[in-house]
Amino acid sequence: MITILGIESSCDDTSAAIIRDKVILSNVIANQDVHKQYGGVIPELASRAHQQNIIPVVHRALELAGITKDELTAIAFTRGPGLLGSLLVGVSFAKGLAASLGIPMVEVNHLQGHILAHFIDDVGKQLSHPLFPFLCLLVSGGHTQLVIIKDYLDFEIIGQTIDDAAGEAFDKCAKVMGLPYPGGPVIDMLAKEGNPEAFRFAKPKVGGLDYSFSGLKTSFLYFLRDRIVENSHFIEENKADLCASLQHTIISILIDNLVKAVKQTGIKEIAVAGGVSANSGLRDRLISEGNKHGWNVYIPEFRFTTDNAAMIAITGYYKYLQGLVAPLNTVPVTRM
Ligand code: KG4
Ligand code: ZN
Repeated sequence: MITILGIESSCDDTSAAIIRDKVILSNVIANQDVHKQYGGVIPELASRAHQQNIIPVVHRALELAGITKDELTAIAFTRGPGLLGSLLVGVSFAKGLAASLGIPMVEVNHLQGHILAHFIDDVGKQLSHPLFPFLCLLVSGGHTQLVIIKDYLDFEIIGQTIDDAAGEAFDKCAKVMGLPYPGGPVIDMLAKEGNPEAFRFAKPKVGGLDYSFSGLKTSFLYFLRDRIVENSHFIEENKADLCASLQHTIISILIDNLVKAVKQTGIKEIAVAGGVSANSGLRDRLISEGNKHGWNVYIPEFRFTTDNAAMIAITGYYKYLQGLVAPLNTVPVTRM
């Protein structure tokens, strides 16, 4: 029996989770509301909040799992990518606890964690897992990638954004409309009442399987600026249609390359991961594209879409099985 404590602190969520073999026993997440008033994550404030949250969050994860720290086999932590001051809190805590318990620690790449979240099982319930090799559309606040997963720890990136991530496009466009941070979930909610065909925004022209979202953000900004000159209440009066049209454009950009990637690779096992995979429009579209093209589509449960430590713990589990333990002098890395 292998029991892993996972620790995630790469951005603005402090999370701890316990996974026993592949089964999730707890997954505690402390969100940081302090950033809302600034319309984005303030790194220094994130780091301070992690410091305050880390001990209670780990305590709670152990308590909910019904185990003591002496039952832990290893501690998995996010080494990067992320904000240095945020990562430092999780990495230092993991080192201290692992050393005091005399157990190994395992470093985890946050992005790999998002993808391997697909292999978590629930107590008494096996969830459906993609078969190797599968293609994963990884869409978060910091990354947008198309990845072939050949085995638990064998990944190949075949396409990625050359500028902004999909989540950033949601968040930045939301900010332009005066919506709160993070904008993705707010746009998702407002889009439900709007017409996705109301406005058209140009899709970027990038070669191969790469993505680009910075042009969309700029054209959205200019579009609104011109309309506001004619009608100062334009945003207010068209909020739902703007959200629906913008979301529709982002989803189309994501899906276009995914369809291309399936054609190129011949892989029809399709998974989606990362914070943006919580988007209801994207989830619906993936299901309909899957039906149309004969794909097996794997959509994560909501709790495993945005940042959480269960995904770090499951990745730690597979790395631990391979003997991939981290030395005590491991330091966080902002880019991986
Ligand atoms: O994976 P994640 O929690 O953090 C990173 O690793 O970046 O992703 C956060 C991103 C944010 O940009 C947020 O706006 C977006 O995921 N997001 C959504 C939704 N929920 C979260 N975007 C669109 N629709 C949603 N429902
Ligand atoms: Zn993430």
